[in-house]
This record gives sequence, C-alpha cells and structure tokens, in this order.
Amino acid sequence: MTHSLYGRDVLKMNDVNQAEVADLITAGLTLKGRLRRGVPHQLLHGKNLAMMFFKPSTRTRSAFEIGMQQLGGHAMFLSANDMQLTRGETYADTARVLERYVDVIMARVFDHGTLVEMADAARVPVINGLCDMHHPTQTLADLITVKELFGGTRGVRIAYVGDGNNMVHSLLHAAPLAGMHIAVATPAHYAPDPRVVAEARTIAEQSESEVLLTTDPYEAVAQADVVYTDVWVSMGQSDAAERVAALQGYQVNEKLMSAARPTTKFMHCLPMHRGEEVTAAVADGPQSVVFDQAENRLHAHKAILALLCSIEGQSLL
Ligand code: CP
Ligand code: NVA
Repeated sequence: MTHSLYGRDVLKMNDVNQAEVADLITAGLTLKGRLRRGVPHQLLHGKNLAMMFFKPSTRTRSAFEIGMQQLGGHAMFLSANDMQLTRGETYADTARVLERYVDVIMARVFDHGTLVEMADAARVPVINGLCDMHHPTQTLADLITVKELFGGTRGVRIAYVGDGNNMVHSLLHAAPLAGMHIAVATPAHYAPDPRVVAEARTIAEQSESEVLLTTDPYEAVAQADVVYTDVWVSMGQSDAAERVAALQGYQVNEKLMSAARPTTKFMHCLPMHRGEEVTAAVADGPQSVVFDQAENRLHAHKAILALLCSIEGQSLL
C-alpha cells in the first residue's frame, strides 16, 4: 500500500501522476457512494482546513467547507481582503502562521506564484482553489464525471472551445493523465500557454493520448464525446472587450453541438453566461451535465483532502 499523496501540495493537475489521478478518481467515487449510502467516513476527524479567497466563489468554497465537515473536520473561511496581507504581510509569513493552526490550506489567488510562495513556506499541504493559470480541483471533478458517464476515462475524447485560460490549462494536463484525448479550439491570440501544451504533450506520449490545438471549433468537436467551454472573461482579466470580440465565433450552440454526436455531453465548470460562451438551449438541454460536474466538486475535494491529509485515506482505494 502506498501513501504517495500524503502531505503533498496540489497546485497544478500535473503535480500528480497517472496512477495518482486514478487513485483520486477512485477515492472520489468511493466517498460519493459512502455519502449516498449513509456510511460514515470521518477520515479527517479533528483536522482543520484554512480556505483563503482573493476572488469570489460559490462551488469551490461550499464544496470544500461541506466536504471537510462530512469528513469530520472543520473548514475556516478567510477573505483575503480582511487579512493582514492587505497591509503588507507576506504570503510566506501568512502560510507559516496558518500551518501552526491547520492541517491543510486551500487558496484561490490571482497569480500562480502566490501559491508557490505559500507552498514553499508551509509544512502542510497547499491546494490550488483556482489561480490565473490552473484550476485542478475542477478538473478532478470533471474526470470523476467523465468516468461516471462513460464507465472510464481512457480513450474518451474531450473538446474545449473558447478562451485559452486556467480551465483549459488544467484540462490539458488532466486529459492525458487520465488517458483521454483532447482537442482545443481557441482564437490564435488567446491560445493556451505553450509551456502547458508542451507538458500535456509529454504526458500524452506516455499515456498514448492525442493533443490537438486548432483555431477551428468544428475541427475540435468533430469526434468529441464531451464538448467543454468556460467563460470568455475570467476573474482578474482586464481585456474583456477585446477577448469577447475575438471569441465571437467560439460559442457552443446547437449548430456546433450537432457537428459532434447526439450522445456528446456538454460540460462547463460554471458559472456560465447564457448567450455568450454557450446558448441556453445547450446549457439547459439534454446533453448538458453541468450540475453533475458541480455536484462532483464535493466528492473530488473530499478525495483530495482525504488522500493528502490522512494515511487512513488509503482505505478508499
Ligand atoms: N467552478 C468554480 O470554481 O466555481 P466557483 O467560482 O463558484 O468556485
Ligand atoms: N476561468 C474562470 C473559471 C471560474 C470558475 C475564471 O477564472 O474566472
């Protein structure tokens, strides 16, 4: 029995390897089953989570707080604007103080570098609750959702259409880690970070996955089992008008979905803006699984917390 994730930080999806991603999916589904059957699973009894937010959140905050409670622990919400950070205390000092009180830190920040600074300073695990570059807790929930829908992840084809943002970066890591094929369509000027694409291709070589980048949404969705999009303007982006103008041809609508298959699912991390990146007909239509994804945030977060913070978490595998 390995304890490979115990004590680790999860700042990016590729901080975990293929076997660890499989373990996280398994743990999430096991915890989901236990919750549904009413089987107690208080693996983190007496443990504490600090949740620092520099940006708004509905799902991430709620699912971490309720998840920690269901695991027998406690979650503390910290609005970064109300902390001494606003008066110049460093991220590293903040992390060094929090680790004296809690067993794990989750933070939603602007710059990825903030998380790196906190993780370097803290002796407890640090989890990325979204930054400018990555959103790994969302993609773990998405992989759980894919496994539920298709019986597994290997060979499933996902197409992402829209802005080359934090969400697609985490999907570019997550898909090949789970043996999925990924096709990404963005405007050339808003393509994903080439470093992330190179990392995805390296993982894909090991897992025999395909990684396709294009500017043509129809090419991306042609063989897709899942079509995924995200908001056109992410939190912290200051070029809204230019980005929205460039993304006009990248809306997920019924015409684009019909270029895939009738069985193709529509996914979105939420919150969504009907009439912008997705039409209401698709968002609220029979192919949409967006609220299943949102539900699976709870189980994904619990899996991460259990495996990072408890040796007993191994019992879930
Ligand atoms: N998908 C997601 O992270 O949602 P929140 O911003 O509401 O946390
Ligand atoms: N890309 C979006 C995701 C929100 C969950 C953002 O960063 O605002």
